[in-house]
Amino acid sequence: MPEKRVEKPKTLVLGVSGGIACYKAVELVRLLVRAGFGVQVVMTREAMEFVTPLTFQTISGRPVATETFSLTQESEIGHINLADQADAIIIAPATANIIGKIASGIADDLLTTVLMATRAPVLIAPSMNTHMYENPILQENLRKLARLGYHIMEPAEGYLACGYEGKGRLPEPEDIVERIHGLLKKKDLASEQLLITAGPNHEPLDPVRFIANRSSGKMGYALARQGLRRGAQVTLISGPTALAPPAGARLIPVQTAAEMRQAILKEFPKATAVLMAAAVADYRPEKFVPRKIKRGTAALTLQLRPNPDILRELGARKNGQFLVGFAAETEALVINAKKKLREKKLDLIVANDVTQEGSGFDADTNAATLLDRTGAVRRLPLMSKGELADRIYDHLLALKKK
Ligand code: C5P
Repeated sequence: MPEKRVEKPKTLVLGVSGGIACYKAVELVRLLVRAGFGVQVVMTREAMEFVTPLTFQTISGRPVATETFSLTQESEIGHINLADQADAIIIAPATANIIGKIASGIADDLLTTVLMATRAPVLIAPSMNTHMYENPILQENLRKLARLGYHIMEPAEGYLACGYEGKGRLPEPEDIVERIHGLLKKKDLASEQLLITAGPNHEPLDPVRFIANRSSGKMGYALARQGLRRGAQVTLISGPTALAPPAGARLIPVQTAAEMRQAILKEFPKATAVLMAAAVADYRPEKFVPRKIKRGTAALTLQLRPNPDILRELGARKNGQFLVGFAAETEALVINAKKKLREKKLDLIVANDVTQEGSGFDADTNAATLLDRTGAVRRLPLMSKGELADRIYDHLLALKKK
């Protein structure tokens, strides 16, 4: 289900300079197009030695710009036009050569001319041999560019195509995409320390078995990702999930509700807002059996004990923190959510009917209703969990202002 677009799609100019990591820039374009960006690729002459413009043209769906002095390219694309229409410019891979040129104000080809003419934010993703990267001239150039407001990504470490091991790999395309999202977002959560919980709990029965629930963690991870993009500091306390943690989040992995509680109580005093998206286990087995329970023919009865309600505890001891709870319901959605909001002393509750198609567990979308402490009830349409996370933050900020 595609994300409902409210904003006009953003245009990115991707400058590709001549390094072996050019082939990864193709994957970057694919990810950016899939994320809804319009991508205009500009290649240097050296880049065309590694990958042909046709490859980028096919993936981006737009003609690739390569020449400053081509009459057709200049009339159809044009360097000033490129510089003006870009919401951001990304250089990936950025070679030592192009970094040196930008830092020295040289504009002797299309890409460097566009860079000279733009007012859009510029993200540079260097990729080169370790010794070139460590060269003090290159380092000085990067420092100068950072001082002038250019955004610089650290290269990744590992095996390099030239045979060396070390720093110099192009950052993973997914990480570059994340940085671009961050670059384009308003930093309206910059003063927030968000404490976010996500995923299920595993409550062990014996060494090989546990009780869990169907939470995938997707809502909590979406909250972490959007929070980071909007400038917040994010601590993510997560039960076991199959998800990759968003770059920049401080991840605290836990298994049981008791571990989750302990981690939350420790982090709580530092937080400005807590978003409890985890499906905390309501019960745990009365006792843990240290050896695997053997199969038998008789019925087996499990004795369960209730876990503490963490959010209720936070509600009772909150000291300025903004508390957001989640209510997954199968009936009487608004009534149940209102009751939880009041009883747990929450500022906001996100209620969703998990019986509805495309909503709730493991889905990438959610149709939620936001209820807040002032009594406001806002029913939201089906949207991606990323977009819902943004709506939750919009509501949080509006309520904090009141
Ligand atoms: O279980 P319930 O529907 O009341 O959960 C609503 C909210 O309370 C969720 O935000 C959930 O993370 C939180 N919760 C909790 N501790 C529990 C159970 C739920 O913090 N033991």
